[in-house]
Order: sequence, then C-alpha cells, then structure tokens
Amino acid sequence: MKIVVILGSVREGRLGERVAKWTLAEAAKVEGFELKLADLKELALPVFSDALTPGMRQEPYAEPAARAWSEVMAWADGFIFVTPEYNHTVPGALDNALDYLWRELTDKPAAIVSYSNGPMGGARAADHLTAMLTYMKVLVSGVASVGLADKNIDEAGALLVAGPERALAAALTRLVKLGSLPK
Ligand SMILES: Cc1cc2nc3c(=O)[nH]c(=O)nc-3n(C[C@H](O)[C@H](O)[C@H](O)COP(=O)(O)O)c2cc1C
Repeated sequence: MKIVVILGSVREGRLGERVAKWTLAEAAKVEGFELKLADLKELALPVFSDALTPGMRQEPYAEPAARAWSEVMAWADGFIFVTPEYNHTVPGALDNALDYLWRELTDKPAAIVSYSNGPMGGARAADHLTAMLTYMKVLVSGVASVGLADKNIDEAGALLVAGPERALAAALTRLVKLGSLPK
C-alpha cells in the first residue's frame, strides 16, 4: 500500500520534523507500506489562486510545485497527515495545500498525527482536519495526538511517553482495512 506522510508545518525550527520522523518509523513497522514523505516546506506551494476549483480541473497543474504535490497525492493509496495546532486549527500551509486537491483524495483512507506544545496535543486541529478531509471524501481512520511534544519527542524522533504509539498503530490498522474496501 502506497502511503504519503504529509508534514504540515513549514516554519523555521519546526518541531514537526521530529514528529514526522517518529511517524515514519511507526509506519515502517506496518507490513506492505511503501512510504513517501511530502514535506510542505520543501514543496513551497504558492497560495492557491487557480481559476478552476480542483474538482473542475481536467489538466495537470502547470505550476511545478502544485504539479509535484498533486502527483504524489494521486500516487498514494492512503495518507498520514502530521499536523501541529495553530490557533486551534491546522496551519495555513496545510489548509492551502489541501485547497489544490480533490480527485487525488477521493475515497482514500488517512490517519492523522497531531501535536502541540500544549497538553492536548493538537486535538482541536485534528478535529478540524477530520472535518475537512471528510468533506473531501477521505476516510479518516483515526487520530494520534502527542501533547507537550517539545518534551515528549526527542530530536531523533524517539517518543518519550506512552500512549500515542498505540493510537497510531490502531489508526494504521484501520487505515489498511479502509483501503481494502471496494471503491
Ligand atoms: C502560529 C502559532 C499558533 C499556535 N497555536 C497553538 C494552539 O492553538 N494550541 C497549541 O497547543 N499550541 C499552539 N502553538 C504552539 C505550537 O504547539 C508549537 O509552536 C509547536 O512547536 C508547533 O509545531 P511546529 O514547530 O512543527 O510548527 C502555536 C504556534 C504557532 C507558531
């Protein structure tokens, strides 16, 4: 199963790199996963300003970053979104990246890993992302939230607290199940 891990934070010194490392290591434990990282900082998508809504678009994007983003998401059979919480929702960079997509997502499963330096681990961002993805016909399989992430994940991506690994494993098991439903 082809899985894209999306790193949704683009800011300097982001904690998201640690969380993505942990997520990739956990996902690598699932037999049959072929993993790719889509790092929104590397992709550097412009603010979405296309004349067509993504659902109306027939041609690939001409803009190279948009095209690369659309292609990697179309390649995937499923997704793991790694998102911090900014002002109780997802970062603008992730919201903007989702604006580019429609058919790339339809009926595919996704797990969410949220995190923050607060105790709730970005749970409110995860709720918003669940609602957005559900509207986009993505099958959300579950959420793992890492609270106090600056203390609970080290720079090598090692999780220093128990709990989120179980939530992520359950979300990935369900992601595989949802991915095998008839389309
Ligand atoms: C613009 C902004 C808004 C934030 N809003 C929240 C918030 O609503 N809840 C929270 O728990 N932490 C919030 N934080 C703190 C983040 O949890 C913390 O900065 C974390 O490192 C963000 O992930 P990142 O470093 O990968 O970008 C916010 C941080 C930023 C930069």
